Amino acid sequence: MIIAIDGPAGSGKSSTARRIARRLDGFYLDTGAMYRAVGVALKDSEYGPDAVEKMVNDLILDVELDAAGTRILVNGADVTEIIRSSEASKLASSVSKLQAVRSKLVSEQRRLGRKLSEAGRFVVVEGRDIGTVVFPDAEVKFFMDADPRVRAQRRHREMEEAGADSDLAQVLSEIEARDKEDREREHSPLRKADDAIAVDTTRLTPEEQVDIMVGVIAETIQRSEND
Ligand code: DC
Repeated sequence: MIIAIDGPAGSGKSSTARRIARRLDGFYLDTGAMYRAVGVALKDSEYGPDAVEKMVNDLILDVELDAAGTRILVNGADVTEIIRSSEASKLASSVSKLQAVRSKLVSEQRRLGRKLSEAGRFVVVEGRDIGTVVFPDAEVKFFMDADPRVRAQRRHREMEEAGADSDLAQVLSEIEARDKEDREREHSPLRKADDAIAVDTTRLTPEEQVDIMVGVIAETIQRSEND
């Protein structure tokens, strides 16, 4: 079973997707990590921006999945930790606009998701275009969102807890800028699939989000068993 989770930055997707995958003893595919890895690789590569297509085709991307997350190797080097920086986030946002990058990553995401779901496993796939483009036939689709101020506060708290300097007003303006870019880009913009279930996390705790969503998944399984 494929469970698609989309939504803007800071809506709680990643932590929720990871927890759901653990509860279901399944796998968690963080597609944003793949865009981040390509963003970082492109920055460090010898190819100029005009040669993006060649660079993307030459890139060897290894994606290893388990319930805890997505480990990514680019040309053999493990980039899982370095792609969490705010610089990697900006690089990801710009490469995610390029169709050459999207088509390579989407086909890899489909291959990984199908392999595991055909083996009878739950795969929680999280991103921006999962329910609309990558897995339009996913058995369950969620679109998570929250008030931008609450999303900024969450990011700000996470950064402070990690010991990084953070300014709330700046985090809010970065989140708003990234939302705008993700929603307005030409290829696969961030948007709720018509059949996705909206989950507004503004007033929910992480546990409440997971309980609601696991409840929906359980109902879907029940219904398909009764059909
Ligand atoms: O979820 P994240 O912050 O790690 O995503 C990084 C960037 O990648 C973000 O700007 C949107 C983009 N992205 C995308 O375009 N499509 C996806 N399926 C996942 C992420």
